Amino acid sequence: MQSLSDAAPKPGSERATQVRTIFSEIAPRYDLLNHVLSLNIDRAWRRAAVDRLGWERAPSGRYLDACAGTYDLGLELARRAGFSGRVVATDFAHPMLAQGVKKIAGAPIAPACADSLVLPFADATFDGAMVAFGVRNLSDVRAGLDEMHRVLRPGAKLVVLEFTTPPNPVVRAGYHFYFKRILPVVGRVVSGHPWAYTYLPESVGEFPGPRELAGMFEGAGFREVGWRLLTGGIAAVHWATA
Ligand SMILES: C[S@@+](CC[C@H](N)C(=O)[O-])C[C@H]1O[C@@H](n2cnc3c(N)ncnc32)[C@H](O)[C@@H]1O
Repeated sequence: MQSLSDAAPKPGSERATQVRTIFSEIAPRYDLLNHVLSLNIDRAWRRAAVDRLGWERAPSGRYLDACAGTYDLGLELARRAGFSGRVVATDFAHPMLAQGVKKIAGAPIAPACADSLVLPFADATFDGAMVAFGVRNLSDVRAGLDEMHRVLRPGAKLVVLEFTTPPNPVVRAGYHFYFKRILPVVGRVVSGHPWAYTYLPESVGEFPGPRELAGMFEGAGFREVGWRLLTGGIAAVHWATA
């Protein structure tokens, strides 16, 4: 890895460029760090997200995995028994898509390098959409939700998986210790990136909680909005109907 960016993302117009730069730089180590740092719990979280998508109503449909990274969420859907549809996996960091491309060989997943704030799809294209750990990174969350709503068919579901802050003070203390002390050090050593894994806990701390996020879904025109905390509230799966 050469010439790593030297400043953590700040709110404002440059945020999108900075986020794209981070993920482009950590792409070669992203999968390893994801599974190590989450102690592999991320796999169960992805299963919980796909369980909420309602894909069984249109098993041969077209599904969007936005901010897809290295395709783990799309693969979780594509490998479900009875799924005969197609997943379109979008991300604006091309190195993330390129890094994961071997994993999707033979799977019904079509990658596309695209910004979630301006998706290159017609209105009402998808039978469902999902985003894992991507919404928090958007420079304009509301614009991203508006865009998902636009590309979904009426009645189709959006599922969002995100980190959140555990409500229980004891769990929260352990979580903060891990997230703020251990994770940045392990992330720095394994990824070789000076601050990408410091950005992670900071971005979670700044992100709206589940209730506020649910309100943003409603503001974007979604209905039947709900969420469930996972693993003591470290993460949450959100769902909504377009
Ligand atoms: C934490 S990774 C999650 C990747 C994958 N969904 C997963 O669960 O492992 C966040 C991804 O969101 C992408 N991303 C952030 N903002 C984006 C945007 N505006 N448009 C497209 N992709 C975006 C990043 O490039 C990165 O690959």
